[in-house]
Amino acid sequence: MESNKEDIGHIALGVRIGGLALMNPVMTASGTFGYGEEFAPFCDLNRLGAVVVKGLSLEPRMGNPAPRIMETPCGMLNAVGLQNIGIRAFINDKLPYLRQFDLAVIANIFGETVDEYRRIAEILSGADGVHGIEVNISCPNVKKGGVAFGAKPDVAADVTKKVRSETDLPVIVKLTPNVTDITEIALAVEAAGADAVSLINTLTGMSVDIERRRPHLANITGGLSGPAIKPVALRMVWQTVRCLKIPVIGIGGISTAADALEFLIAGATAVEIGTANFIDPAVTIGILDGIEAYMIRHGIGRIDELIGSLKTDP
Ligand SMILES: Cc1cc2nc3c(=O)[nH]c(=O)nc-3n(C[C@H](O)[C@H](O)[C@H](O)COP(=O)(O)O)c2cc1C
Repeated sequence: MESNKEDIGHIALGVRIGGLALMNPVMTASGTFGYGEEFAPFCDLNRLGAVVVKGLSLEPRMGNPAPRIMETPCGMLNAVGLQNIGIRAFINDKLPYLRQFDLAVIANIFGETVDEYRRIAEILSGADGVHGIEVNISCPNVKKGGVAFGAKPDVAADVTKKVRSETDLPVIVKLTPNVTDITEIALAVEAAGADAVSLINTLTGMSVDIERRRPHLANITGGLSGPAIKPVALRMVWQTVRCLKIPVIGIGGISTAADALEFLIAGATAVEIGTANFIDPAVTIGILDGIEAYMIRHGIGRIDELIGSLKTDP
């Protein structure tokens, strides 16, 4: 994935996630950008640092019953429940399309058992056109697996080790904010061989229809995403960056270049854009342009000079 497109004029935007060189730090967040193809008419995929595809399981999943989406002030609740076409259909039907782009493709994976995670990693390792694996141990909307793997350091480490043992691809472990101390989990997965961590997944929430006195979501609870969660996500990214040696990818409520810059300055090596894609399918390109404009305005030639440049001294 080395590319001279990472140098726009004299601005060097390239970042590294383990062994993977991204031409810029703007990625999409899993579950908010389909399998890439759906967004291609609106957004030039060749300009993105990476596309993280919808979470993939060993077998196809129907997800949770409707209603499973609810708008909230400055965000949304979702309880989609990891609906997806399954790993084999992804490789056969979706990857060939993505291979035509100069783009890093990250497969987001999910298992109901530790062995399922291992199996999916094994299958993906042989797939032409996958550049990295993001391991979702943080979905709050499924009965088996998901956040159950991400809330305990030893279990999170076990999943990471099993995936690591099956693949040479960069392994990014995606963490949940629904824990007391996210750094404990981050340190455990780093020690278990993760190349990077990404955070945050959604915050568990709920909403009640007062006329019917019933939850709005059939699943009762859902995951909160969007601008409402950004300050929490930023705080967790900052805390995690200070504890780890591996790169941290910031996710949570990023809708503008200024939002993305906050995460980069706090120490995130890259950012993933989620819910904002539903409002503007080309938002990622605007964010990339905005980061570049900011760097020009501040005379910053390399993105490394910006990453982690937060000043906290009095
Ligand atoms: C509708 C929807 C589906 C999602 N599906 C997944 C998924 O399959 N795997 C995953 O790791 N995260 C999933 N997420 C979480 C997002 O990738 C992201 O971590 C979260 O929404 C916070 O970022 P945002 O505020 O920018 O949306 C989903 C989020 C939404 C809103």
